Amino acid sequence: MKALVLAGGSGTRLRPITYTRAKQLVPVANKPVLFYGLESIASTGIRDVGIVVGDTQAEIEAAVGDGSAFGLQVTYLRQEAPLGLAHAVLIARDYLGDDDFVMYLGDNFIVGGIDALVERFRAERPSAQIMLTRVTDPRQFGVAELDADGRVIGLEEKPREPKSDLAMVGVYLFTPAVHDAVAELKPSPRGELEITDAIQWLIDAGRGVQSTLITGYWKDTGNVTDMLEVNRLVLESLEPRVDGDVRDSELVGRVVVEPGAVVSGSRIVGPAVIGSGTVVADSYIGPFTSIAVDCRVNNSEIEYSIVLARSSIDGVRRVEASLIGHDVEVTPAPNTPRAHRLVLGDHSKVQISQ
Ligand code: TTP
Repeated sequence: MKALVLAGGSGTRLRPITYTRAKQLVPVANKPVLFYGLESIASTGIRDVGIVVGDTQAEIEAAVGDGSAFGLQVTYLRQEAPLGLAHAVLIARDYLGDDDFVMYLGDNFIVGGIDALVERFRAERPSAQIMLTRVTDPRQFGVAELDADGRVIGLEEKPREPKSDLAMVGVYLFTPAVHDAVAELKPSPRGELEITDAIQWLIDAGRGVQSTLITGYWKDTGNVTDMLEVNRLVLESLEPRVDGDVRDSELVGRVVVEPGAVVSGSRIVGPAVIGSGTVVADSYIGPFTSIAVDCRVNNSEIEYSIVLARSSIDGVRRVEASLIGHDVEVTPAPNTPRAHRLVLGDHSKVQISQ
């Protein structure tokens, strides 16, 4: 059995971060979200992983390498444009050969791994096995309709009038039967080859599609709100550890200070993680905050936020519920005249307190 991990895509919902970076590498508790997925795959015993990549290929390759750090053997499969999840299967046809495979969306986050799911698939080998979870607003997801016996009878991508509250989670298991379906697909109205259409094709052809309802936690980290929420969840199980240099400071609760980080004159209320090379001085870091490597937080307050590498926050209070990219500078404006001075990339989102 192989794995196909999707790490291309356009990432429009995470702009402007995704103008310059792969969304699958945005860190959750200072570890790229993609790595959690690769660890889950390795834990099932699968070794061969094809990673579908697009414009951000170089960055993904630099982070994952040959996969040996995860106990995996990784092959990169270039998708010339984000033409859909089923298009990714199409271009992976030769790599997958006649093996069964698990398809894993590289920006999805599933607590509890996929071992049980893969085990069930190996035992029963339906042509496709999908994972479902109950959601409050199914209109943003692929939605499944089940019959009285729990069999999947219909699937719809982002329906206006959903037939259930069961959304498809971004992990799918397939036998090579899926290639017959993919070969028949036509682009959807949004111009993509849809994996929901491929699975619907298998249902219509009577090829047996199973579903598993997961009760554990799942999130697509494609937008900022969900990204911050996943970060919160992962930080909650943090093991406190101080390997950096902490002076004249108070650390409360689960706090990790990585080697080479320096914290002085500050109060950090966990769960929070401070990356190596980062300097925190005369500041307050509140719960559910991840500060990446080589940042500088000086005379500021920040909580419930993710800060990426080499950014600096100086003299600002208070930053909350924010995703701050790489090499960003946040500073206060001069007091008079009272005004905000902004240099924002396209598609930035800023909420200014009144
Ligand atoms: P999505 O989040 O559904 O799509 P997207 O990345 O284009 O993002 P947005 O909706 O914000 O524009 O993709 C799920 C995962 O699959 C994600 O890791 C990107 C990846 N993907 C591909 O590798 N190839 C594709 O053609 C598509 C559509 C997605």
